[in-house]
Amino acid sequence: MSLRVRRLVKSFASPAGLVPVLAGADLDMSPGDAVALTGPSGSGKSTLLHLFGALESPDSGTIELDGADPSGLSPDNLADYRNRKIGFIFQDHHLLPQCTVKENVLSPAWACRRPAAESAALDSRASALLDRVGLSSRLGHLPAALSGGERQRAAVARALLLHPRLVLADEPTGNLDRTSALSVASLLLEMAASEGAMLLVVTHSAEIAGLFPRKYRMEEGRLLAT
Ligand SMILES: Nc1ncnc2c1ncn2[C@@H]1O[C@H](COP(=O)(O)OP(=O)(O)O)[C@@H](O)[C@H]1O
Ligand SMILES: [Mg+2]
Repeated sequence: MSLRVRRLVKSFASPAGLVPVLAGADLDMSPGDAVALTGPSGSGKSTLLHLFGALESPDSGTIELDGADPSGLSPDNLADYRNRKIGFIFQDHHLLPQCTVKENVLSPAWACRRPAAESAALDSRASALLDRVGLSSRLGHLPAALSGGERQRAAVARALLLHPRLVLADEPTGNLDRTSALSVASLLLEMAASEGAMLLVVTHSAEIAGLFPRKYRMEEGRLLAT
C-alpha cells in the first residue's frame, strides 16, 4: 500500500517546440506519509500532481499506487480510479456554489449509484468529517457564506469522503492569511494521518512546508529531498 514513482518524464508542445517539464522525477510514499513540495513557479509542481492523480499521462516513467499503474485503464475505469483512490484539494476550493456545504462534501459520491445502506453510511461520514473540520454548524450553508479558511476545510472533508489512498493538494493555503493557512495545513496533516492516507501538498510557504515531516523541492524536472 504505497506510491512508487520512477523516472517520470513529461513535456508539453508549444509553438516554439517541446517544453520539457519533468525530467526523471522519482518519489516513494507509504501510508501516513506527508510530503511538502516547493519550487519556483512553472517548475512543474502542478503537472506532477496531475500525473499522480491520473488527470494526464506521462511521456515515460511509471506511477504505481498500491502496486497498480493507472496508465492502462479505460476512460471509465480511470474516472473510477480517480474518484476512489485520489482526493484533490485546489487553491481555489472549487466547491459547487449552488450546493450546500454538506452536499459539496457528498459530491464525490454522486459519480455512481449506490445502494441505500451505502448512501446512509456516506451521509453519516460526511457529517462526521464536517464535524472534525469544525463545520458542523455550517452544513446547510452555501460556500459563499463561508470564510476562505472554512471553504478549504470543507474541501478537505470532501477530498476525504471516499477514503482516498492519496490526497493531492495544490497550494491549498495560497489564498489564505497566515493564521488560516497554518490552521488549514495543520488540519490537513492531522486528518490525512488519522485516515492513513498519503498526503502531498504543494506550497510556496517555507513555514507551511516546515510543518511536514518530509520536504521536497522541484528542481530541473526532478524531486530533491531538502
Ligand atoms: N497543458 C499544458 N500545455 C502546455 N504547457 C503546459 C501545460 N501545463 C503546464 N504547462 C507548462 O509546464 C510548465 C510547468 O507548469 P506547472 O506544472 O503548472 O508549474 P508549477 O505548478 O510548478 O507552477 C510551465 O512552463 C507551463 O507553462
Ligand atoms: Mg502550479
